[in-house]
Amino acid sequence: MSKPIVIVTRRLPDVIETRMMELFDCRLNLEDRPMSQMELIEAVKVADVLVPTVTDRIDAAVLSQAGPKLKLIASFGTGVDHIDLKTARMRGINVTNTPGVLTEDTADMTMALILSVPRRLAEGVRLVREGGWSGWSPTGMLGHRIWGKRLGIIGMGRIGQAVARRAKGFGLSIHYHNRRRVHEDVEQELEATYWESLDQMLARMDIISVNCPHTPATFHLLSARRLKLLRPEAYIVNTSRGEVIDENALTRMLGNGEIAGAGLDVFEHEPAVNPKLLKLDNVVLLPHMGSATIEGRIAMGEKVIINTKTFADGHTPPDRVLEAMF
Ligand code: 8YV
Repeated sequence: MSKPIVIVTRRLPDVIETRMMELFDCRLNLEDRPMSQMELIEAVKVADVLVPTVTDRIDAAVLSQAGPKLKLIASFGTGVDHIDLKTARMRGINVTNTPGVLTEDTADMTMALILSVPRRLAEGVRLVREGGWSGWSPTGMLGHRIWGKRLGIIGMGRIGQAVARRAKGFGLSIHYHNRRRVHEDVEQELEATYWESLDQMLARMDIISVNCPHTPATFHLLSARRLKLLRPEAYIVNTSRGEVIDENALTRMLGNGEIAGAGLDVFEHEPAVNPKLLKLDNVVLLPHMGSATIEGRIAMGEKVIINTKTFADGHTPPDRVLEAMF
């Protein structure tokens, strides 16, 4: 049987691209320029397998142009909110992702933000770099203590639990809201308190961490109304998807001092960042780098290869994504 045509939309680590070239009739994007919608349409017309990333919008307009050979979208990443799963299913196109292998890296970055915002890390870095530091003083650069505070995790899946494990070590008490209560063994291990009501949890937390996927149900889950429930001393950290928070409302409230600070690795309209956010001192802003480790990227690539090869060999790929999972 001839090798499947696999179109990869962005550059992947060398070892992954090399192996993909060996296994498949692979078309790489050596310039790493994000593809336009027109280029994606051209790709799906000829591919057997498309390997997109979070920067590609695989919507109904793209999928409706797919050629008869396209039977798999093997996405490089865990989130699948850039893919119209319903249209893919209706057209008989399978979708896979790369779960599990970026859990610990994303949890590390979440913890880094949880530590950075209340302790004013980015402000301190700027002060020293810009030559504004005139020396130590007892009241200089005072932030807020992490230890003993309450962390409210929204979305207690793999990443939420990995954040909780780290946070417990830093003396935070763990609270969470999730569609379903997690297994009691996990709750016991993490000494975690379940809040069925997100509103009630928000009103009582010192730090909120967003770790749920972006789905139609979680779009603007942290709406202007819900953000107003937060205490003015509260901090908010997001390493999931920008769309889960109403970014305009958050920016306004951060500017007015209605929320103490935010650590954001993701934004509602990436790569655009609300210009008003850039002017604030009480935010740490990162360029969607939660899972950006070379080890993580290689592991993600290996999952793409396994999913594609398994599928090409006529079997169900291990990381198949179904709409019902979200
Ligand atoms: C990835 C992510 O870098 O996997 C995800 O859902 O958000 C990121 O960590 C990106 O999605 C790769 O496509």
